[in-house]
Amino acid sequence: MVEQATAFKVKKVEKSRVNQLDPENIVFGTLFTDHMLVADCIDGVWQTPEILPYGDIAYNPALASLHYGQSIFEGMKAFRNVADEVVMFRPEENFKRFNISAERMCMTPVPEDIFLGGLNEVLKLDAAWVPKGEDNSLYLRPFMFASDVYLGVRPSYNYRFMIIMSPAGKYYSEPPKVKIETEFIRAAAGGVGYAKCAGNYAASLYPAKLAQEQGYTQLLWTDAETHTKFEESGTMNVFFVKDGKLITPKTSTTILKGITRDSLITIAKDLGYEVFEQDVYVKDIVDGIRDGSVTEVFGAGTAVVVSPFSGIGFEGEDIALPAINSSSVSSILKENLDGIRKGQIADTHKWVYKV
Ligand code: COI
Repeated sequence: MVEQATAFKVKKVEKSRVNQLDPENIVFGTLFTDHMLVADCIDGVWQTPEILPYGDIAYNPALASLHYGQSIFEGMKAFRNVADEVVMFRPEENFKRFNISAERMCMTPVPEDIFLGGLNEVLKLDAAWVPKGEDNSLYLRPFMFASDVYLGVRPSYNYRFMIIMSPAGKYYSEPPKVKIETEFIRAAAGGVGYAKCAGNYAASLYPAKLAQEQGYTQLLWTDAETHTKFEESGTMNVFFVKDGKLITPKTSTTILKGITRDSLITIAKDLGYEVFEQDVYVKDIVDGIRDGSVTEVFGAGTAVVVSPFSGIGFEGEDIALPAINSSSVSSILKENLDGIRKGQIADTHKWVYKV
């Protein structure tokens, strides 16, 4: 249940910019809604959150998060359902994960009424920004950063929590071609792989850039110790279809516990698929693509939803995957996920929250 916040200071825009939104032509992460939420935690005490016109924020050059990376975020979406209502998908799960990330990064947890209540408030105000259209949604980005002005290395005493929102369409315009990464690593056991912290994304940029220079869209990360097992892909968890069964790496301290991942596993089981969360070996998958037993590899995440890969690069060789059609497992899972979110399929797990 999403709680209402008791008090928010609200300063509305004089004139909405929603006419800048063209639902036919949305580029991810480039346009932001009229309002944003700002809440400061000062010496452990959360101040009254403010909803303000979207805009720049001033920062001191000694802001701790700029130097030592105490910064976390969530990725969530709001949808317009078939009854034209605005809904969020499993927001409590993002709230829980946010504070798991906060704990790992030694940051003050955010209270539910600020996180969930705040989302509710900004969404009500900017509901007109939730676009219609099959693959369209409003991407919600709660985030928090250390706001001490201090150069010593220690956890900050002060934090700023914010929510910004941005219309989203398809994240990838074409099915990604991914490279199996066997040199660089994303995360090691005992590290911060399971936390949605900014540094995880920063550290992935250089290996991803090298792969992009070789013609790949993204990386498929392997385990830090042996590079023989799959972990996750950049910006998404990863699934494999082998002999009609759905397989995904089991979560650990090195893998983000994706909410889309969890939803797809549940939907697949509901639909009667066999699902295995286990170690997934690179060799088995590469051999399986070659002998035809592995028919699909796809990413799953809030931003990408369900994103089938066109092919995989391994040890300098490109291995194509069969084309996807409407009876592919990934298509069926996506159709069911979209159907639940848009109110076309019964929400038996109570995942949809009406704003
Ligand atoms: C999301 O799916 O929300 C993510 O966090 C990926 C993002 C970095 C684009």
